[in-house]
Amino acid sequence: MGGAARARRRELHLKERTAVSNQDGVGIRQADVVRVREAPVQETPVQETPAQEAPAGGAAQKPASTALEVDDLTVAYDSRPAIWDIDLRVPEGVLMAIIGPNGAGKSTLIKAALKLIPRAAGTVQFYGQPYERVRGMVGYVPQRGSVDWDFPTTVLDVVTMGLYGRLGWLRRPGQREQAAAMHALEQVGMQDFAERQISQLSGGQQQRTFLARALVQDARIYLMDEPFAAVDAVTERAIISIMRELRARGKTVVVVHHDLQTAAEYFDWVTLLNVEVVASGPIGETFTADNLRQTYGGRVAYLQDAQRIAGREEL
Ligand SMILES: Nc1ncnc2c1ncn2[C@@H]1O[C@H](COP(=O)(O)OP(=O)(O)OP(=O)(O)O)[C@@H](O)[C@H]1O
Ligand SMILES: [Mg+2]
Repeated sequence: MGGAARARRRELHLKERTAVSNQDGVGIRQADVVRVREAPVQETPVQETPAQEAPAGGAAQKPASTALEVDDLTVAYDSRPAIWDIDLRVPEGVLMAIIGPNGAGKSTLIKAALKLIPRAAGTVQFYGQPYERVRGMVGYVPQRGSVDWDFPTTVLDVVTMGLYGRLGWLRRPGQREQAAAMHALEQVGMQDFAERQISQLSGGQQQRTFLARALVQDARIYLMDEPFAAVDAVTERAIISIMRELRARGKTVVVVHHDLQTAAEYFDWVTLLNVEVVASGPIGETFTADNLRQTYGGRVAYLQDAQRIAGREEL
């Protein structure tokens, strides 16, 4: 889509969103609409890659250097858009943060990519293929609050479930799989909790259990929704070092992240999201005060953070 057509479409989108907001006052925040209208969404080279011709269903092969490609993705809950017309291209081997305020659609983006929720429009490809074809290559760490922790199962079972994609549901995991699961638990410092019911874990231990489940899968790309939530500083450092190790092995790691202060240190790529993509690209040129202002609008606390952290422009 050309720049002019895209701008026209976006203007239309905004009108619709204003209408939604007027109807019930909760769905899309009016302030966001005004803000986005005033601050045109940046067109980055990343979004301009010529991948949009890919047919739905993803028969065309993409070069291996693109780990994740999202084209024109829109998702709505009860006809209320949560993410709108998302275009994204994530190169293989990056450690990417998805950053945006609460309700920006970060979890929605990840869930829609994994087909856990229906898409209103758009395509998503992993390594040039639709998700169904590469399921085993994609590891997922869900946001902690979205999981039923009362489900009666042990830590080891949850981690072993990460292997089912490879095993098939009918084959029961044997000693080799259990050993792999134990190794993953060791990597996240949870080996002593293997037989513990997941309902009896602390928040940080739950988080680490799900990280181990993703690790055991030996995926090529990992999508992690707030893996640092509820973990202490030591665990956070352990998790980031695991992520770096994954990247060193050529894996791609996509992480929903809230802490603006650590973003530039932890990640080399970033997508700033607020219903639409504000900017996406290498962290050095994308994580700017201006882009953060566009992402967070008038939220003062974040703006102060943004100013201090980016330290490049007056806000
Ligand atoms: N199942 C659902 N039904 C209806 N609305 C939903 C549902 N899930 C999410 N939403 C709404 O969609 C929007 C995006 O939600 P989402 O969970 O993707 O945000 P997020 O960026 O992950 O936020 P957070 O930082 O709080 O995790 C929010 O306004 C949310 O209220
Ligand atoms: Mg979320």
